[in-house]
Amino acid sequence: MVTVILPAAGQGKRMNQVTNKVLLPLLGRPVLVHTVLAVSACPEVDNIVIAAAPQEVGLVHCLLAGLEGVKPWQVVAGGTERQYSIANALTVIPQTVGIILVHDAARPLIRPDMISRMIAAAREFSAAGLAVPLKDTIKRVDSNGFVVETPPRSTMWIMQTPQAFTADILRAAYRQATQDGFLGTDDASLVERLGVRVKLIEGCYSNVKLTTQEDIVTVEALMRKDCEDMLR
Ligand code: CTP
Ligand code: MG
Repeated sequence: MVTVILPAAGQGKRMNQVTNKVLLPLLGRPVLVHTVLAVSACPEVDNIVIAAAPQEVGLVHCLLAGLEGVKPWQVVAGGTERQYSIANALTVIPQTVGIILVHDAARPLIRPDMISRMIAAAREFSAAGLAVPLKDTIKRVDSNGFVVETPPRSTMWIMQTPQAFTADILRAAYRQATQDGFLGTDDASLVERLGVRVKLIEGCYSNVKLTTQEDIVTVEALMRKDCEDMLR
């Protein structure tokens, strides 16, 4: 069994809108609906757990109820940090599930074939993350904004989601993080702390995470291009 967790319980502060970014419309459909449909289109996915902000749980139910082409889903209340939202989702996933993927609800352009690749990677390597090579040079800076170091670009990758794990490894990583009070910015970082090696799978730059206003323009343009390509 394969379950996909979709953390959707953020506030989208950097988007600077009244509405949580995962509920904003993209070509007339809420971001979260696009993401749920994309995940559902992956044949190897059995079900989906969405972590929604407590005050948005009802709304998410309404958005997904009656939608065609959706894998079995449930909604749980998320927490104040992404990591806590995922921890809550983990509590409702039965022990019979062998592979768990975590995918940001704010990445609606994920391709179903990429999800399949991540599931295969979790089976082969136990822990895997979708990633793309850096396009820009990265600098490490001090608190005054002066450059400390330029890490070689070829060794640096940008992490995306999905990140995919065997269920026992992800659960152990979350247990350990809770015990240590460790807060990470992605799931792989929790797993790395266990000493487990995380395999990176090269993804696409189009798997954008909606973060700031300009990302909406980019993602809508990419969606339109996909539609045009399909009609061609
Ligand atoms: N997320 C979550 N619970 C939180 C915070 C984030 O489930 N407490 C989810 C978001 O809804 C999003 C994903 O995690 O789908 C990635 O997080 P991010 O892009 O940081 O979203 P937000 O936290 O909503 O945005 P911001 O940091 O700008 O406030
Ligand atoms: Mg955030």
